[in-house]
Amino acid sequence: MQKIEHIGIAVNSLEEGEKLYESLLGVPPYKRETVESEKVVTSFFRQGPNKIELLAPLGNDGPISKFLAKKGQGIHHIAYAVTDIKAEMQRMSKEGFVLLNEIPKRGADNKWVCFLHPKSAGGVLVELCQEISG
Ligand code: CO
Repeated sequence: MQKIEHIGIAVNSLEEGEKLYESLLGVPPYKRETVESEKVVTSFFRQGPNKIELLAPLGNDGPISKFLAKKGQGIHHIAYAVTDIKAEMQRMSKEGFVLLNEIPKRGADNKWVCFLHPKSAGGVLVELCQEISG
């Protein structure tokens, strides 16, 4: 683990979330990206060294949609930057964390990602992410 790469926040509407975070952070989002496989639309903000990812549901049967129905808007995950995601996944698995995907998946903002089940991580959904190079 290197550092917190971003904090993921679930919002009902990307437009409203973007408005809120633009006035909170004082900067507009730098990118919007749809991840069809996860049924999510994302919007990214950078403020100094920090990054916020807003996640809004695409349709009504994806993981974000389910999260919002169960918990409402709010912090969805904490993402950590790693340099060797496969090695970290092996290490996490050995440490007893439950991996939600067995091989790295292509996530938003040019990253390989793997999620750890919140039940194995003290109630927090953890994302490991590695920059896709080349
Ligand atoms: Co994320």
